[in-house]
Amino acid sequence: ADPRIARISNAIRAIPDFPKKGIMFRDITTLLLDPAAFQDSIDLFVARYKDQGIQVVAGIEARGFIFGPPLALALGAKFVPLRKPRKLPGPTVGVDYSLEYGTDRIEMHVGAVQAGERVVIIDDLIATGGTMGAGIALIDQAGGKVVETACLIELTDLKGREKLGNTPLFVLVEYEGE
Ligand code: PRP
Ligand code: MG
Repeated sequence: ADPRIARISNAIRAIPDFPKKGIMFRDITTLLLDPAAFQDSIDLFVARYKDQGIQVVAGIEARGFIFGPPLALALGAKFVPLRKPRKLPGPTVGVDYSLEYGTDRIEMHVGAVQAGERVVIIDDLIATGGTMGAGIALIDQAGGKVVETACLIELTDLKGREKLGNTPLFVLVEYEGE
């Protein structure tokens, strides 16, 4: 196994009962305090995508905005923010998705992704997969080709992967249950 994975995993903090009782929160802010481990995480993504002709890295608000830009710069790709509703000033396209209670929505500027462009969508974590599934639908709508989705963390029990259809998911660290 790559020793960098253990370093990354050790730098992610687990906080029980946040944001509510029974939830084990996986906190990446402690990874950001460890420049070597943060760099390792970016290096692993760069190594995976550098020869894949990636033209766009799309990051999901908010924590996808932390990992997406360094990856985009290393690849010489565009960075496109996929934002929560009513944040982007220009014309947008959006996708609604359901949460445990209620719905949410992500939006992107029209024209940010061109038809046929090769895209990686990145976020910090996949849980139920609702957010990443919406990201895929949004890029699809623009005619972009989602080559792969990428997360630092997968909560495997929640089977979010199953919401991504045929689009592959690459993760650095997996946690099962608590
Ligand atoms: C978290 C996480 C992912 C999403 C995963 O974001 O950063 O974006 O939830 O959940 P899912 O797979 O069940 O959809 P959150 O919406 O809490 O907000 P933030 O990134 O803006 O902090
Ligand atoms: Mg998020």
